Amino acid sequence: MIKTSTQIRQSFFDFFKSKQHTIVPSSSLMPDSPNLLFTNAGMNQFVPIFLGQQKCPYAPGRAADTQKCIRAGGKHNDLEDVGLDTYHHTFFEMLGNWSFGDYFKKESLEWGWELLTKVWGFPANRMFATVYKPDPTKGDPADFDQEAYDIWAEIFRAAGLDPAVHIVFGNKKDNFWMMGDTGPCGPCSEIHVDLTPAGDTRGRLVNQGSAECIEIWNHVFIQFNANPDGTFSPLPAKHVDTGMGFERATSIIQCTKGFTDFTNAKISNYETDIFRPIFDALEKLSGKRYTSTLPQPGATPTEQEKIDIAFRVIADHIRTLSFAIADGILPGNTDRNYVLRRILRRAVRYGRTLGFHQPFFFKLVDVLAETMGEVFPEIRARKQQVQDTIRVEEEAFNRTLDTGITRFENQIELLLSGRTLVEGKWISDRPPKIFPGEFAFVLYDTYGFPLDLTELMARERGLTVDTAGFEVEMEKQRARARAAQKKTVIEVSQINTDVATKFIGFDQLAANAKVVDVVDVKGRTAVILDSSTCYAEMGGQVGDTGEISGSGNLWRVVDTQKVSNTWLHFLESQIANFKSQMADPKSEISNLKSEIADAPVVGTEVRLAVDAARRAAIQRHHTVTHIMHWALHEVVSKDATQKGSFVGPDKLTFDFNSAALTPGQVADIEKLVNERIVENSGVSWTEVPYADVKGRKDVMQFFGDKYGDVVRVVQIGGGVKTLDGYSMELCGGTHTRATGEIGAFRIVAESSVAAGVRRIEAVCGLSAYEQARREREILHGLSARLSVPAGEVSGRVDVLLDHVKKLEKELKARANAAAMGQIDSLLASAKEVGGKKIIAADVGELDTETLRNLTAALRAKFASGLIVLAARAGEKVQFIANADEALVKSGVNCGKLIGAVAKIAGGGGGGKPNQAEAGGKDVSKISAALAEAEKILAG
Ligand code: SER
Repeated sequence: MIKTSTQIRQSFFDFFKSKQHTIVPSSSLMPDSPNLLFTNAGMNQFVPIFLGQQKCPYAPGRAADTQKCIRAGGKHNDLEDVGLDTYHHTFFEMLGNWSFGDYFKKESLEWGWELLTKVWGFPANRMFATVYKPDPTKGDPADFDQEAYDIWAEIFRAAGLDPAVHIVFGNKKDNFWMMGDTGPCGPCSEIHVDLTPAGDTRGRLVNQGSAECIEIWNHVFIQFNANPDGTFSPLPAKHVDTGMGFERATSIIQCTKGFTDFTNAKISNYETDIFRPIFDALEKLSGKRYTSTLPQPGATPTEQEKIDIAFRVIADHIRTLSFAIADGILPGNTDRNYVLRRILRRAVRYGRTLGFHQPFFFKLVDVLAETMGEVFPEIRARKQQVQDTIRVEEEAFNRTLDTGITRFENQIELLLSGRTLVEGKWISDRPPKIFPGEFAFVLYDTYGFPLDLTELMARERGLTVDTAGFEVEMEKQRARARAAQKKTVIEVSQINTDVATKFIGFDQLAANAKVVDVVDVKGRTAVILDSSTCYAEMGGQVGDTGEISGSGNLWRVVDTQKVSNTWLHFLESQIANFKSQMADPKSEISNLKSEIADAPVVGTEVRLAVDAARRAAIQRHHTVTHIMHWALHEVVSKDATQKGSFVGPDKLTFDFNSAALTPGQVADIEKLVNERIVENSGVSWTEVPYADVKGRKDVMQFFGDKYGDVVRVVQIGGGVKTLDGYSMELCGGTHTRATGEIGAFRIVAESSVAAGVRRIEAVCGLSAYEQARREREILHGLSARLSVPAGEVSGRVDVLLDHVKKLEKELKARANAAAMGQIDSLLASAKEVGGKKIIAADVGELDTETLRNLTAALRAKFASGLIVLAARAGEKVQFIANADEALVKSGVNCGKLIGAVAKIAGGGGGGKPNQAEAGGKDVSKISAALAEAEKILAG
């Protein structure tokens, strides 16, 4: 029976569950290890356990999962192969099982064999195992893995197969697995499958880079830690770390129709239900068909082969981009972020082969959310953010891609004619098969072509890029940028405010601007532009975020602030992080140092685009603040004057002078605001001389505030710019065009911030929806748990609370009765010390009230003498002391006594001479504390 990929994944989990493994979730693609670009193996999340730095949380010490992995850049890099064959990916799922100092080679290999051949039905005669055999001439570590060899020999013999044929040896290159240059590692044993039609290669193709015999499952026997100096130290315990290519296993099962047909099989990871839905979407979008052809080595690919390569690359890359972004790794200019950007740009470039000139790539995220969202819920939860991020990147790269491609083509023609023109200079003495590094640099710098993209395009034309020449240009540019950018480190107060930035963001969200300066404000890089579409924080409205693009680079603007009239666009700081990575020469990230461009160059023109969705959300909250201010005056009083406000994308807060609002007033304000919203009145603004509106009661203004000669009035309702709206405020912020855009409005809280100052916190638009959704979830949760319809939850809770009260009462009565049951034995335990009677006892678990009742009841029957009781409440202890009148007269003071007693149990307390209470924290000291009471009484 042919299985779906979902069934295959599940049967892996089920198998290892039956072998007492805990099934754990995939860890994030953002690695914990500082030396990795991305999570590249299932074992990454377990490194601290392997190294003995963390205790294994599973009992027994076994786990299994499917792990999201990216192998692009660094030690394990499959990027270049993607699309050209059937089984390499940048993103893939790795099914894995682990033993943390628990089972070892025998169980691991036998279970591997059992799952593949017995549960799934892989034909035994097509299976080959590799075993570690160090090559002494290469200084390989550790010894020949005799143990693994013997286990395999036994397995193959039992299957009637010859171990000499089915076991293949490999040295450190193939059979010693390392996560990176450092970290846990050890010899490994891989399982390979012969996929040829006849299945008679007798192990000849193992590890020969053939698609007809591929590795599907690696079993690593982790025993060492690789140190930075190249040596290996043994680990405190031995572990198992296995990893199986999920897509590969699925392809073999599905493409051979459940192992029934190897003759006509096109065995490819792409011919599975994992990739088919992506291809379907891509076929629909492009109108082109995927026909599964592969390029022939050495030959120029045909048109259809090119199309099929593009399908595979795009389908692979969308998985990488989507899952990385969903885990918070965004395309950017440095380290792993730049790797992502490169992958995305490759996909966009391959999109040209399918005829896409507009953003298309982001549209494929839907398919992943649909098909993989069950297993990896993050892709559904962050779908919108993933799509937005990809779309913005595509738009930016599309702007220069066509021109870049044309220039590339022209260059190729010239090259073929034996000459090269680089930036206006003829260069003629070049070997025609070499693509000039200077030109690769022009493509990088002006058109944002990552070097590997140019290399790939050149390769398609049979040319090699002169990467050394590219590096030379890169270094020159770095020097130029350093000189031009001498970023001044300044305090905010030192910013040259002569440079006035023209704010054009009321009407426009994206525009070109000139870089006037780049400054370093307390370690944060800020770009100063001559004009800006970003709103700089003012009057409670937060600053905009957005993106600056230029020279093929993109910089995230994470905040906009202003000093006087100078706008500061703060850039996301990736550089600090980057520098710390650079300190380690082995870091994969340091290999990418040539790609840094930490800020735009002064004097160049860039494009600035505001994050439009965020701005729209801010505007909704700002406009609704005005309406709420109006409603507050209607419902409460015109004297409820504004003291301050905060307006952000997710919420607003509004502070005003008033007594606490009643729930009725809060409800009225909320209702009035919503009524105004649905009226959908226009929102307009106009600039007028301050004198015209100064002191006008119907135009909200902060009295005593200094306004300029010309002020901006924002008006809601009435005509357009006619100063006759129901709400008018002097305000410099940005707003919606009409109230209907605000959507729903909800007050979240009304509270006190200072004497006589109240704060309303409210949400609108999608945040209001989100809040309603969360509340509904809570309600539905309650309704399900209480097994009543939502409308009956509150009635049901009342009934339950009644029950609880009754039960509590009953429990108390029982506890009391049980406590009173101790009276006789307590009386019997009375002793005499120094001529005075005392009952000192541990009365077990009792609450304070019962303890007091017990003491009183005891007193009634114990006419003269001291009572000291200790009651427990979990880890705590409560002491009480009571003395009769005569005893007090004789000098006994319960207040002092109990303090000394409680101190022994790590606490304190006191009270009156005749009765006192104290708490303690150490129940093990109760007897000692009670003994102390006797001692004190004895004098
Ligand atoms: N860590 C090994 C690998 O990635 C086995 O999981 O191949």
